Amino acid sequence: MSYRHALAALTAAAGLVLASVPASAATADGHGPGRTLGELAAATHRYFGSATDNPEFTDQAYLDILGREFDSTTAGNALKWYATEPQQGVFDFTQGDQVLDFARRHNMSFRAHTLVWHNQLPDWLTSGTWTADQLRAILKNHITQEARHYRGKVYSWDVVNEAFNEDGTYRDTLFYRTLGPGYIADALRWAHQADPHAKLYLNDYNLEAVGPKSDAYYALVKSLKAQHVPIDGVGFQGHLALQYGYPDTLRQNLQRFADLGLDVAITELDVRMILPADAEKLATQAKWYADVTKACLAVRRCVGITVWDYTDKYSWIPAVFTGEGAALPYDENLAPKPAYYAIRDALKAAGR
Ligand code: XIL
Repeated sequence: MSYRHALAALTAAAGLVLASVPASAATADGHGPGRTLGELAAATHRYFGSATDNPEFTDQAYLDILGREFDSTTAGNALKWYATEPQQGVFDFTQGDQVLDFARRHNMSFRAHTLVWHNQLPDWLTSGTWTADQLRAILKNHITQEARHYRGKVYSWDVVNEAFNEDGTYRDTLFYRTLGPGYIADALRWAHQADPHAKLYLNDYNLEAVGPKSDAYYALVKSLKAQHVPIDGVGFQGHLALQYGYPDTLRQNLQRFADLGLDVAITELDVRMILPADAEKLATQAKWYADVTKACLAVRRCVGITVWDYTDKYSWIPAVFTGEGAALPYDENLAPKPAYYAIRDALKAAGR
Protein backbone atom coordinates (compact mmCIF):
# COMPACT_ATOMS: atom_id res chain seq x y z
CA MET A 1 0.00 0.00 0.00
CA SER A 2 1.40 3.44 -0.85
CA TYR A 3 1.82 5.86 1.96
CA ARG A 4 -0.96 8.09 0.60
CA HIS A 5 -3.39 5.19 0.38
CA ALA A 6 -2.30 4.03 3.80
CA LEU A 7 -2.98 7.45 5.21
CA ALA A 8 -6.48 7.59 3.75
CA ALA A 9 -7.31 4.14 5.09
CA LEU A 10 -5.77 4.90 8.43
CA THR A 11 -7.64 8.13 8.82
CA ALA A 12 -10.90 6.33 8.17
CA ALA A 13 -10.01 3.53 10.56
CA ALA A 14 -8.80 5.96 13.16
CA GLY A 15 -12.26 7.47 13.44
CA LEU A 16 -13.47 4.02 14.41
CA VAL A 17 -10.72 3.62 16.97
CA LEU A 18 -11.66 6.86 18.63
CA ALA A 19 -15.37 6.16 18.46
CA SER A 20 -14.91 2.68 19.91
CA VAL A 21 -13.24 3.85 23.10
CA PRO A 22 -15.82 3.34 25.81
CA ALA A 23 -16.16 6.35 28.07
CA SER A 24 -15.67 4.09 31.08
CA ALA A 25 -12.14 3.22 29.93
CA ALA A 26 -11.09 6.84 30.05
CA THR A 27 -10.23 7.09 33.72
CA ALA A 28 -7.71 9.79 34.56
CA ASP A 29 -4.75 7.58 33.83
CA GLY A 30 -6.46 5.15 31.45
CA HIS A 31 -6.31 2.39 33.99
CA GLY A 32 -9.10 -0.08 34.57
CA PRO A 33 -8.78 -2.95 37.05
CA GLY A 34 -7.08 -6.01 35.54
CA ARG A 35 -6.64 -4.28 32.25
CA THR A 36 -3.19 -2.76 32.19
CA LEU A 37 -1.06 -3.10 29.09
CA GLY A 38 1.19 -5.45 31.02
CA GLU A 39 -1.66 -7.67 32.12
CA LEU A 40 -3.24 -7.74 28.68
CA ALA A 41 0.12 -8.61 27.11
CA ALA A 42 0.72 -11.32 29.72
CA ALA A 43 -2.54 -12.95 28.64
CA THR A 44 -0.88 -13.41 25.24
CA HIS A 45 2.38 -14.71 26.85
CA ARG A 46 4.17 -11.49 26.07
CA TYR A 47 5.30 -8.42 28.00
CA PHE A 48 4.52 -4.79 27.42
CA GLY A 49 7.30 -2.55 28.66
CA SER A 50 8.45 1.04 28.83
CA ALA A 51 11.92 2.51 28.97
CA THR A 52 12.61 4.92 31.79
CA ASP A 53 15.45 7.17 32.89
CA ASN A 54 16.91 8.17 36.25
CA PRO A 55 15.95 11.89 36.21
CA GLU A 56 12.32 10.78 36.01
CA PHE A 57 12.55 9.06 39.39
CA THR A 58 11.57 12.29 41.15
CA ASP A 59 8.17 12.30 39.41
CA GLN A 60 5.86 10.18 41.53
CA ALA A 61 2.82 10.49 39.25
CA TYR A 62 4.97 9.24 36.39
CA LEU A 63 6.36 6.35 38.46
CA ASP A 64 2.88 5.31 39.58
CA ILE A 65 1.83 4.68 35.99
CA LEU A 66 5.16 3.12 35.02
CA GLY A 67 4.96 0.59 37.83
CA ARG A 68 1.31 -0.21 37.37
CA GLU A 69 0.74 -0.24 33.62
CA PHE A 70 3.90 -1.96 32.36
CA ASP A 71 5.37 -5.35 33.24
CA SER A 72 8.83 -4.78 31.79
CA THR A 73 11.25 -1.88 31.75
CA THR A 74 14.67 -0.89 30.50
CA ALA A 75 17.04 1.89 31.44
CA GLY A 76 17.12 4.52 28.70
CA ASN A 77 20.69 5.57 29.51
CA ALA A 78 21.91 4.10 32.80
CA LEU A 79 23.58 1.00 31.39
CA LYS A 80 25.44 2.68 28.56
CA TRP A 81 29.22 2.64 28.65
CA TYR A 82 29.66 6.32 29.61
CA ALA A 83 27.53 5.71 32.69
CA THR A 84 28.86 2.32 33.79
CA GLU A 85 32.61 2.70 33.17
CA PRO A 86 33.22 6.46 33.33
CA GLN A 87 36.94 5.90 33.90
CA GLN A 88 38.85 2.93 32.60
CA GLY A 89 38.36 0.01 34.95
CA VAL A 90 36.17 2.04 37.34
CA PHE A 91 32.61 0.80 37.25
CA ASP A 92 29.51 2.55 38.52
CA PHE A 93 26.20 0.74 38.52
CA THR A 94 24.24 3.05 40.81
CA GLN A 95 21.99 4.46 38.08
CA GLY A 96 21.30 1.06 36.57
CA ASP A 97 20.66 -0.43 39.98
CA GLN A 98 18.09 2.28 40.70
CA VAL A 99 16.09 1.31 37.63
CA LEU A 100 16.51 -2.40 38.26
CA ASP A 101 15.35 -2.00 41.89
CA PHE A 102 12.22 -0.25 40.69
CA ALA A 103 11.58 -3.07 38.22
CA ARG A 104 11.99 -5.73 40.89
CA ARG A 105 9.74 -3.94 43.36
CA HIS A 106 7.01 -3.76 40.71
CA ASN A 107 7.41 -7.27 39.33
CA MET A 108 8.65 -6.00 36.01
CA SER A 109 11.13 -7.89 33.89
CA PHE A 110 14.21 -5.95 32.83
CA ARG A 111 15.74 -5.54 29.37
CA ALA A 112 19.33 -4.42 29.81
CA HIS A 113 20.58 -1.90 27.24
CA THR A 114 23.38 -1.90 26.04
CA LEU A 115 26.92 -3.36 26.23
CA VAL A 116 28.50 -2.36 22.90
CA TRP A 117 27.45 0.76 21.00
CA HIS A 118 29.26 3.53 19.14
CA ASN A 119 27.35 6.30 20.95
CA GLN A 120 27.51 7.55 24.53
CA LEU A 121 30.99 6.14 25.07
CA PRO A 122 33.24 7.63 27.78
CA ASP A 123 35.91 10.12 26.67
CA TRP A 124 38.76 7.96 27.88
CA LEU A 125 37.69 5.30 25.39
CA THR A 126 37.03 7.52 22.36
CA SER A 127 40.07 9.74 22.85
CA GLY A 128 42.54 6.88 23.32
CA THR A 129 44.51 5.10 20.61
CA TRP A 130 44.23 1.38 21.02
CA THR A 131 45.80 -1.62 19.38
CA ALA A 132 43.44 -4.46 18.56
CA ASP A 133 44.73 -6.45 21.54
CA GLN A 134 44.21 -3.52 23.89
CA LEU A 135 40.71 -2.76 22.65
CA ARG A 136 39.73 -6.44 22.76
CA ALA A 137 40.81 -6.58 26.41
CA ILE A 138 38.92 -3.37 27.20
CA LEU A 139 35.77 -4.66 25.50
CA LYS A 140 35.97 -8.04 27.18
CA ASN A 141 36.47 -6.47 30.59
CA HIS A 142 33.61 -4.03 30.08
CA ILE A 143 31.17 -6.72 29.00
CA THR A 144 32.29 -9.13 31.69
CA GLN A 145 32.08 -6.67 34.57
CA GLU A 146 28.75 -5.22 33.54
CA ALA A 147 26.99 -8.44 32.59
CA ARG A 148 28.37 -10.10 35.73
CA HIS A 149 27.04 -7.31 37.94
CA TYR A 150 23.55 -7.93 36.55
CA ARG A 151 23.94 -11.70 36.29
CA GLY A 152 20.70 -13.54 36.96
CA LYS A 153 18.76 -10.27 37.34
CA VAL A 154 17.97 -9.30 33.77
CA TYR A 155 15.73 -10.90 31.21
CA SER A 156 17.87 -9.90 28.25
CA TRP A 157 20.88 -7.88 27.13
CA ASP A 158 21.15 -5.77 24.01
CA VAL A 159 24.72 -6.95 23.55
CA VAL A 160 25.52 -5.01 20.39
CA ASN A 161 23.47 -2.00 19.36
CA GLU A 162 23.28 -0.48 15.86
CA ALA A 163 26.11 -2.43 14.18
CA PHE A 164 24.98 -1.85 10.57
CA ASN A 165 24.48 0.99 8.13
CA GLU A 166 21.28 1.47 6.12
CA ASP A 167 22.81 -0.23 3.07
CA GLY A 168 23.66 -3.36 5.05
CA THR A 169 27.39 -2.69 5.37
CA TYR A 170 29.02 -2.76 8.80
CA ARG A 171 28.93 0.56 10.58
CA ASP A 172 32.41 2.04 10.81
CA THR A 173 32.74 2.19 14.60
CA LEU A 174 35.75 2.14 16.89
CA PHE A 175 35.09 -1.56 17.44
CA TYR A 176 34.62 -2.52 13.80
CA ARG A 177 37.61 -0.46 12.65
CA THR A 178 39.95 -1.87 15.25
CA LEU A 179 38.69 -5.43 15.68
CA GLY A 180 36.88 -6.29 12.46
CA PRO A 181 33.40 -7.85 12.26
CA GLY A 182 34.35 -10.65 14.68
CA TYR A 183 33.81 -8.25 17.60
CA ILE A 184 30.10 -9.09 17.46
CA ALA A 185 30.57 -12.84 17.99
CA ASP A 186 33.18 -12.14 20.67
CA ALA A 187 30.84 -9.77 22.49
CA LEU A 188 28.05 -12.36 22.47
CA ARG A 189 30.40 -15.07 23.78
CA TRP A 190 31.74 -12.88 26.59
CA ALA A 191 28.25 -11.80 27.58
CA HIS A 192 27.13 -15.41 27.68
CA GLN A 193 30.05 -16.37 29.90
CA ALA A 194 29.23 -13.56 32.30
CA ASP A 195 25.48 -14.24 32.44
CA PRO A 196 24.51 -17.58 30.93
CA HIS A 197 20.80 -17.05 31.56
CA ALA A 198 20.25 -13.65 29.98
CA LYS A 199 18.78 -13.68 26.49
CA LEU A 200 21.33 -12.08 24.21
CA TYR A 201 20.17 -9.69 21.50
CA LEU A 202 21.43 -7.65 18.62
CA ASN A 203 19.36 -4.47 18.38
CA ASP A 204 18.97 -1.80 15.70
CA TYR A 205 16.70 0.82 14.14
CA ASN A 206 15.23 0.86 10.64
CA LEU A 207 15.15 -2.89 10.86
CA GLU A 208 11.37 -3.12 10.75
CA ALA A 209 10.94 -3.56 7.02
CA VAL A 210 12.51 -6.16 4.78
CA GLY A 211 15.42 -4.38 3.11
CA PRO A 212 19.22 -4.16 2.90
CA LYS A 213 19.70 -3.47 6.60
CA SER A 214 17.44 -6.26 7.86
CA ASP A 215 18.89 -8.58 5.18
CA ALA A 216 22.35 -7.93 6.62
CA TYR A 217 21.13 -8.88 10.10
CA TYR A 218 19.40 -11.91 8.71
CA ALA A 219 22.62 -13.13 7.09
CA LEU A 220 24.68 -12.34 10.19
CA VAL A 221 22.44 -14.08 12.73
CA LYS A 222 22.07 -17.07 10.44
CA SER A 223 25.84 -17.45 10.30
CA LEU A 224 26.20 -16.82 14.05
CA LYS A 225 23.67 -19.58 14.73
CA ALA A 226 25.52 -21.91 12.36
CA GLN A 227 28.73 -21.27 14.33
CA HIS A 228 26.93 -21.83 17.66
CA VAL A 229 27.60 -18.30 18.81
CA PRO A 230 25.20 -17.57 21.69
CA ILE A 231 22.49 -15.37 20.25
CA ASP A 232 18.87 -15.50 21.36
CA GLY A 233 17.12 -12.63 19.72
CA VAL A 234 16.95 -9.63 17.47
CA GLY A 235 15.53 -6.35 18.74
CA PHE A 236 13.65 -4.11 16.32
CA GLN A 237 13.87 -0.66 17.86
CA GLY A 238 10.79 0.68 16.08
CA HIS A 239 11.51 4.41 15.97
CA LEU A 240 8.80 5.18 13.43
CA ALA A 241 7.83 8.54 11.92
CA LEU A 242 4.46 9.30 10.34
CA GLN A 243 6.08 11.20 7.48
CA TYR A 244 8.09 8.16 6.36
CA GLY A 245 5.24 5.65 6.15
CA TYR A 246 4.44 2.46 8.00
CA PRO A 247 6.79 -0.53 7.49
CA ASP A 248 4.27 -2.84 5.86
CA THR A 249 6.61 -5.84 5.85
CA LEU A 250 7.13 -5.79 9.63
CA ARG A 251 5.18 -8.98 10.40
CA GLN A 252 6.80 -10.90 7.56
CA ASN A 253 10.21 -9.64 8.63
CA LEU A 254 9.72 -10.61 12.29
CA GLN A 255 8.58 -14.04 11.12
CA ARG A 256 11.64 -14.74 9.00
CA PHE A 257 13.94 -14.02 11.96
CA ALA A 258 11.76 -16.14 14.23
CA ASP A 259 12.02 -18.94 11.68
CA LEU A 260 15.78 -18.97 12.24
CA GLY A 261 15.05 -20.09 15.79
CA LEU A 262 15.36 -16.66 17.40
CA ASP A 263 13.19 -14.54 19.63
CA VAL A 264 12.23 -11.16 18.26
CA ALA A 265 11.04 -8.08 20.15
CA ILE A 266 10.03 -4.51 19.48
CA THR A 267 12.45 -2.76 21.79
CA GLU A 268 12.18 1.04 21.50
CA LEU A 269 8.84 1.79 19.93
CA ASP A 270 7.76 5.37 19.32
CA VAL A 271 5.82 6.99 16.48
CA ARG A 272 6.85 10.58 16.03
CA MET A 273 5.18 13.24 13.92
CA ILE A 274 5.89 16.72 12.68
CA LEU A 275 4.48 19.09 15.30
CA PRO A 276 1.93 20.36 15.98
CA ALA A 277 -0.02 17.18 16.61
CA ASP A 278 -3.66 17.17 15.52
CA ALA A 279 -6.52 14.71 15.80
CA GLU A 280 -5.81 13.16 12.42
CA LYS A 281 -2.12 12.58 13.13
CA LEU A 282 -2.89 11.16 16.56
CA ALA A 283 -5.45 8.81 14.98
CA THR A 284 -2.92 7.62 12.40
CA GLN A 285 -0.38 7.18 15.17
CA ALA A 286 -2.89 5.08 17.11
CA LYS A 287 -3.40 2.85 14.08
CA TRP A 288 0.37 2.37 13.73
CA TYR A 289 0.75 1.44 17.40
CA ALA A 290 -2.05 -1.09 16.97
CA ASP A 291 -0.50 -2.45 13.79
CA VAL A 292 2.92 -2.92 15.42
CA THR A 293 1.20 -4.66 18.32
CA LYS A 294 -0.73 -6.93 15.95
CA ALA A 295 2.44 -7.73 13.99
CA CYS A 296 4.13 -8.87 17.21
CA LEU A 297 1.06 -10.83 18.28
CA ALA A 298 0.99 -12.62 14.91
CA VAL A 299 4.51 -14.01 15.42
CA ARG A 300 4.74 -16.63 18.13
CA ARG A 301 8.36 -15.82 18.94
CA CYS A 302 7.76 -12.11 19.25
CA VAL A 303 8.20 -11.96 23.02
CA GLY A 304 7.11 -8.41 23.74
CA ILE A 305 7.02 -4.72 23.01
CA THR A 306 8.81 -1.87 24.76
CA VAL A 307 7.96 1.79 24.16
CA TRP A 308 10.87 4.22 24.43
CA ASP A 309 9.36 5.75 27.53
CA TYR A 310 5.60 6.01 27.69
CA THR A 311 4.85 9.73 27.95
CA ASP A 312 5.56 12.69 25.69
CA LYS A 313 6.74 14.41 28.85
CA TYR A 314 9.97 12.38 28.73
CA SER A 315 10.37 11.39 25.09
CA TRP A 316 13.86 11.69 23.58
CA ILE A 317 12.40 12.80 20.22
CA PRO A 318 12.06 16.61 20.51
CA ALA A 319 15.70 17.00 21.57
CA VAL A 320 16.99 14.99 18.61
CA PHE A 321 14.48 15.55 15.78
CA THR A 322 13.81 19.26 15.58
CA GLY A 323 10.13 20.10 15.19
CA GLU A 324 9.00 16.51 15.81
CA GLY A 325 7.45 14.84 18.83
CA ALA A 326 4.18 13.64 20.36
CA ALA A 327 5.57 10.14 19.77
CA LEU A 328 4.33 8.16 22.76
CA PRO A 329 1.02 6.68 23.97
CA TYR A 330 0.59 9.14 26.85
CA ASP A 331 0.65 12.91 26.49
CA GLU A 332 2.77 15.42 28.41
CA ASN A 333 0.21 15.49 31.23
CA LEU A 334 0.38 11.70 31.63
CA ALA A 335 -3.06 11.26 30.05
CA PRO A 336 -3.55 8.33 27.66
CA LYS A 337 -3.78 9.20 23.98
CA PRO A 338 -5.68 7.36 21.21
CA ALA A 339 -2.54 5.24 20.75
CA TYR A 340 -2.88 3.89 24.29
CA TYR A 341 -6.43 2.68 23.65
CA ALA A 342 -5.49 1.26 20.25
CA ILE A 343 -2.69 -0.83 21.80
CA ARG A 344 -5.06 -2.00 24.49
CA ASP A 345 -7.73 -3.01 22.00
CA ALA A 346 -5.18 -4.93 19.92
CA LEU A 347 -3.91 -6.80 23.00
CA LYS A 348 -7.45 -7.48 24.22
CA ALA A 349 -8.54 -8.93 20.89
CA ALA A 350 -5.60 -11.36 20.94
CA GLY A 351 -5.84 -12.31 24.61
CA ARG A 352 -9.44 -13.44 24.51
C1 XIL B 1 18.52 7.74 23.61
C2 XIL B 1 18.04 8.21 24.98
O1 XIL B 1 16.66 8.00 25.09
C3 XIL B 1 18.38 9.67 25.17
O2 XIL B 1 18.04 10.10 26.47
C4 XIL B 1 19.88 9.90 24.92
O3 XIL B 1 20.15 11.28 25.01
C5 XIL B 1 20.27 9.37 23.56
O4 XIL B 1 19.90 8.00 23.47
N1 XIL B 1 18.48 4.17 19.97
C6 XIL B 1 18.94 3.58 21.12
C7 XIL B 1 18.78 4.28 22.41
O5 XIL B 1 19.37 2.42 21.08
O6 XIL B 1 19.83 4.00 23.29
C8 XIL B 1 18.64 5.78 22.23
O7 XIL B 1 18.33 6.35 23.50
C9 XIL B 1 17.60 6.09 21.20
C10 XIL B 1 17.96 5.50 19.87
